[in-house]
Amino acid sequence: MNDMEPQHALPHGKAAAEINTVGDLRLWDASIDTNQLTIVAEQMLNSDPELPGVVVRHMGHLVALMSRKTLFGQLSRPLGRDIYLNRPVSEMLGTLERHPLTLPHEMSVAAAVENALSRPTALVYEPVLVRTPGQPHRILAVDLLLRVQSALLDSAIRAKDELLAEVQRTAAELRTTLVQFEQARDRLVQSEKMVALGQLVAGVAHEINTPIGVALTAATHLSERTQEFDKLVTEGQLRRSDLSAYTSVARQSTELLRFNIQRAAQLIQSFKQVAVDQASEQMRDFELSDYLEQLVTSLRPEARKLGHNLAVTCPEGIAMTAYPGALAQVLSNLISNALMHAYAPGTAGNVRVQVRDQGSTVAIMVEDDGAGIPAENLSRIYDPFFTTKRGSGGSGLGLHIVFNIVHETLKGEITCRSNQDEGTVFTVTLPRMVA
Ligand SMILES: Nc1ncnc2c1ncn2[C@@H]1O[C@H](COP(=O)(O)OP(=O)(O)OP(=O)(O)O)[C@@H](O)[C@H]1O
Ligand SMILES: [Mg+2]
Repeated sequence: MNDMEPQHALPHGKAAAEINTVGDLRLWDASIDTNQLTIVAEQMLNSDPELPGVVVRHMGHLVALMSRKTLFGQLSRPLGRDIYLNRPVSEMLGTLERHPLTLPHEMSVAAAVENALSRPTALVYEPVLVRTPGQPHRILAVDLLLRVQSALLDSAIRAKDELLAEVQRTAAELRTTLVQFEQARDRLVQSEKMVALGQLVAGVAHEINTPIGVALTAATHLSERTQEFDKLVTEGQLRRSDLSAYTSVARQSTELLRFNIQRAAQLIQSFKQVAVDQASEQMRDFELSDYLEQLVTSLRPEARKLGHNLAVTCPEGIAMTAYPGALAQVLSNLISNALMHAYAPGTAGNVRVQVRDQGSTVAIMVEDDGAGIPAENLSRIYDPFFTTKRGSGGSGLGLHIVFNIVHETLKGEITCRSNQDEGTVFTVTLPRMVA
């Protein structure tokens, strides 16, 4: 309990939190019959200086309240003591409050204060009575009521302040946690980027090693055979069969060289695309359905050759402001993946491009009804060099490039949903206007 709190206001050492109603307060039991002498009341009040007054009864019934202030007021008037002290209380009934404010014991302290204070000004500080069913009226001092009320308010204010301080502390902790979280996330993203870049460089080195190695072997072989050929020519020992053997070796070697150098060049080309060059293309306005129709028309011959059907459905009139070249690269990668990976040789498939207008964004779905992507591969499809077609021309950079273009250049998102044997849907969600 706080030092400031009027402890005597709270009965039996009760804490402010335990007090709700007037019945919880300190109440006095003191009464006198109208036939008794007024001096008895004076003695009662003198023997307990805190007693606020005495209930006056007539044959057991409440007839008035004699407050300390009224009695001593009357007695201090000229001849007051002579007039009243040794006469019955009934003689002074005319000076007493005949209908004192009476409150039910279950009334709240706040309501009691309101009732007490709404009495006429002259009576505001008079005690009030508290009625409990089956018990005689008891007396409550109004100053005590007011002190309790102010103690209750104090403790409510303190509780509110504590709560506020607690909320402020929690908010501050949350802010610190958030900052730490953001720093940790930035570090994680940074280190993930480094790891990804490291993997990419290692992967490129590994991938390029094969064609360069083959080309080197072919070049060495060709140069050795050329030396031998030279020698035969200088020594004048060249036969017709040597000549045709040499031309055949030269043809094979140069073919190998050309093929492998081309493959290496391709790999370097796709590696360059991994680092998406955002400045390489101008943003422009285009109508989406026209644009998709053109794009799909250029890819349809490849689909036909493999025996697959390729269709587009797109609502007309979707105006886009974006990088059409980047979008073409994304969609042709997704479509050629469907044609290449979704179907076993000899089976016919349906690949569809569908567009959903979502207001400020569009969703472009590339959907096939093929083999699907096994669950264990789904989380790796965007990793550089992840491919299930390593032996047969796949580099595993396609979806990695797609992911980068969608996020970096087109400012969109890509998701993939796939179930084995039910096909795959890639959904590319793009803002209609790239900021
Ligand atoms: N529509 C699809 N259906 C089934 N599997 C797919 C589909 N699209 C992608 N994949 C799987 O995801 C892998 C990664 O695709 P990604 O385009 O990155 O590489 P890739 O096509 O193998 O090679 P690249 O595109 O570099 O020539 C593929 O090897 C394939 O296993
Ligand atoms: Mg691909």
